[in-house]
Amino acid sequence: MDRRKFLAYLGRSAVVLTFLGQGFAYFRALVPNTLYEPPKKFRIGYPKDYPEGITFVAKHRLFVVREGKSFWVISAICQHLGCTVNIVPPKQEVVKIKGQEYHQKWEFFCPCHGSMYYGEGTNYGGPAPRPLPWYKVDVGPDGQLVVDTNTEVDHKFRLIVENL
Ligand code: FES
Repeated sequence: MDRRKFLAYLGRSAVVLTFLGQGFAYFRALVPNTLYEPPKKFRIGYPKDYPEGITFVAKHRLFVVREGKSFWVISAICQHLGCTVNIVPPKQEVVKIKGQEYHQKWEFFCPCHGSMYYGEGTNYGGPAPRPLPWYKVDVGPDGQLVVDTNTEVDHKFRLIVENL
């Protein structure tokens, strides 16, 4: 290979390598180095530490409801635009939800735009388009409650904890 051909080859190689490098940098920039999303499965403490009734867990924006040995978890995130809903006294103690009578001790109210939810999470007023989700809760190996916000459960779900 003479000098002229060698230099032309070198120049073309440099251009190709430059484009390849830029292409790699472009696609690498689409993949974040760290994931800032909070974990979807987490521990929220021991069942015995939850009092009877409803408890707001601010760190995870959810409610833990305890009735004796039964536990369930309701999201506190409004289904309209994501504000945190508050527990408020019920407007009616007995309501009909899907044809069934439901006795409620509290309701949820969103302070942002006024969405209202019955005590088991069904939306009945304001702009919220759907009920508050219920999340799967289980007892982990260390005895703590483990919530899995990746898994929504039916409003009939109950976790029974025998050894409190
Ligand atoms: S965010 Fe709750 S009503 Fe809009």
